[in-house]
Amino acid sequence: MVARPELGASLAYIELGSPDPLVLAKFYEKAFSAAVSPAGTSYVCRGPDRCVVISPGAPKTLLSAGYKLKDKAALDALEARIRSHGEPVDRTSSLVFEDAVAVRDPSGNHIFFGLPRNVTPHVEGLSGRIQHVVVASTDCEGMIEFYSKVIGLIVSDRVHDKDGVLKTAFLRTDHEHHAFAVFQAGENRFDHHCYEADDWNAIRDWGDHFASFRIPVKWGPGRHGPGNNLFLFVHDPDGNWVEISAEIEVTQPDRPMGVWPHEEYTLNSWGSAPLRS
Ligand SMILES: [Fe+2]
Repeated sequence: MVARPELGASLAYIELGSPDPLVLAKFYEKAFSAAVSPAGTSYVCRGPDRCVVISPGAPKTLLSAGYKLKDKAALDALEARIRSHGEPVDRTSSLVFEDAVAVRDPSGNHIFFGLPRNVTPHVEGLSGRIQHVVVASTDCEGMIEFYSKVIGLIVSDRVHDKDGVLKTAFLRTDHEHHAFAVFQAGENRFDHHCYEADDWNAIRDWGDHFASFRIPVKWGPGRHGPGNNLFLFVHDPDGNWVEISAEIEVTQPDRPMGVWPHEEYTLNSWGSAPLRS
């Protein structure tokens, strides 16, 4: 049996900036069945297997993202690995993690890897665990280099234009096809985050749930090429793209990296897609 080569981490939370954190927190309370706890000037919004922290800031900004590790030994090993590459790293904590390492990636994103605080889980609401986060970057190749060499993520798939130029990369932290992805773009920015539901029927239930609040579907349903996941997208009040997904590919440990053409059918094998890179 081939040993799993991945870091063994999974997305635990994201922290969004917002000019009106309470409005955004109320949205996640309603639409994502979150229990909202004030924490200083921030709000921690916890639903079943999902957590979004909202803090004062510019709209549509990713202030941080946190991936949970399985234990302190894994955390110590990651810290040593990052230091061995000569990269700056902080041993720190956050509203969600009691012990963590934090890095700034080449595009300036603040990424935590850590051990969650012991909080009673909030279990009410539709299933959908927070699963991946995606950013745009002016230096997609540099981001891949950082995340694969320094952190230890594995590139599952790349998307190239007709000249072979990298447009998108999907990276995994565990057995699932991607927990992080990066688009080549003219600016460094947040793109979207995603919740993985149990199955296709659960996407229907999320659509009905959003409809009950008159939250319109903005893109989908469809199926992504890389990752093979079914999806639909809505916007939160700040205009952040929020994805509900199902059937994301479960990778084999020795899965070879794939290369896809940069075209609409790669983003959505069922058809229409807004190309954003
Ligand atoms: Fe996604």
